[in-house]
Amino acid sequence: MSAAARTEPNPPSSDGRATAEPAERVLPFLPMTRPAIDEETIVGVADVLRSGWLTSGPKVKEFEAKLSEYCGGRPVRVFNSGTCTMEIALRIAEIGPGHEVITTPLSWVATSNVILEVGARPVFVDIDPVTRNIDLERIESAITPETRAILPVDLAGLPVDRDRLRGIATQHHLRIIEDAAQSFGSLWRGRRIGSFGDFVSFSFHPNKNITTIEGGALVLNDEREAKLAEQYRLQGVVRTGFDGMEVEVVGGKFNLTDVAARVGLGQLPHLQEFNTKRRELARNYFDLLDTPDARALGLELPPADFEQTNWHMFQVVLPEERLAIKRAEVMALLHAAGIGTGVHYPAIHRFAVYQRLGWKEGDFPIAERVCRNILTLPLFPAMTRADVNRVVHELLTILAAHRK
Ligand SMILES: Cc1ncc(COP(=O)(O)O)c(C=O)c1O
Repeated sequence: MSAAARTEPNPPSSDGRATAEPAERVLPFLPMTRPAIDEETIVGVADVLRSGWLTSGPKVKEFEAKLSEYCGGRPVRVFNSGTCTMEIALRIAEIGPGHEVITTPLSWVATSNVILEVGARPVFVDIDPVTRNIDLERIESAITPETRAILPVDLAGLPVDRDRLRGIATQHHLRIIEDAAQSFGSLWRGRRIGSFGDFVSFSFHPNKNITTIEGGALVLNDEREAKLAEQYRLQGVVRTGFDGMEVEVVGGKFNLTDVAARVGLGQLPHLQEFNTKRRELARNYFDLLDTPDARALGLELPPADFEQTNWHMFQVVLPEERLAIKRAEVMALLHAAGIGTGVHYPAIHRFAVYQRLGWKEGDFPIAERVCRNILTLPLFPAMTRADVNRVVHELLTILAAHRK
C-alpha cells in the first residue's frame, strides 16, 4: 500500500463494522467514475420541479428534438433506461419466441436479458481479444434460419466495425440493434454513432458520458417505428382528440420524466468537452502504460484509438499467467490506496440463469479469459493528469510486487 494514500486504518462505523472508505489520508478517494453536473442544470431542474409538470412533457420533447438533431435528423425517443430501448427495438422488429439474436458474452447483462425478455434466444459469439467487442469474423457461422438480428456492443465506447456489420446484416436479411449504451459521442469513420444504421440504443445511466440519472434513447428509422416506440413506452396507449384512447400493443411504463430530461438537456452541450477530456486522460494512461517497463509486466491495453472512441472507460486486462494474486486482491489493494476500480463485465453466459439455459465454461474462451482479468481504471472528465499518474503508479507497484 502506498504510504501517501492513507495513514490510519479505517475506523469502525457506528454499527462497529469497518467503513468502506479510508478516513484519514493525504489524497482524497479517487472513484472509478463520477458524473459532472453544472450549476445551471441544477437550477434548471429546480425550475422544472417548480413548474407543476414533472413527468414526460415539454422537456422530454425538447430533449428528443436535440438528440434527433445530434443524430442527423433521425427520429429519437427517450425512455427511463437504456435497457428498455433495446427491448422495445426487438419488439418493433417483431422478434420473439422461436427467434435467435446474435450478441456478445462481454457486456452488461442487460444486453442479453432483453433478448430473453421478448422470448427469443441469445446466441453468443466470442469476442476479438484486441477490441474486446464481438468478433465479426465469427458471426456468419452463428447465423441459422432462426436468426433475426445482431445486437453488438461498443464496449468502453469503441465502435464495432459498422461497415462489416451492415454487410453481414444486409446479406442475411437481419436487423441490427446497436447497443451503443457506452458509445454516445463516438464516431465511425467520421460519422456520429446514432446518425446512421438501423436501431441505435443509448444509455444515460450516471456512469455514462452524459447522464439523465437513469434513462436512455432509441434512434429509429422512420415515424412508423417512432410511433410504435411511443406505444411500447406507455402501456400501448394511443390518444386522439380530447377523450379518445386506444390500446394497440401491450406496452410498459418506460417514459422518462421531465426532471430527468432537463438533466439531459444540461449535459448534452458538454458532450464534446467531456469526451475531449476523456481522450486526453486516455492518452495520459497510454503515455505511462505503453512503455517497455510497464509492458514487461504483461498488462493488456485497449486499442489506442483517439479518433473514434469516446473513451467511456479505460480498461486493462491483468496478466493472469504472470500474477500471483487474483483481480479481486488487486482491486482491494488499489482501494486501500484510495483508488476505485470496477469490473465491466463478468461473462454473461457464466451467470446462473444462462447456465440453466445450457451455456457452460469453455464455450467462449476468449471472453472468459478477458472477463476474468479485465479491470476498469478511473476515468471521468474532472480527473487530472496527476490522478492518472497516481493510478498507474499504484497499479504498476502492485503488479511488480506480486509478479509470479
Ligand atoms: C453495454 C450496456 N448495455 C446496456 C446497458 C443498460 O443501460 P441502462 O442501465 O440505462 O438500462 C448498459 C448500462 O449500464 C451498458 O453499459
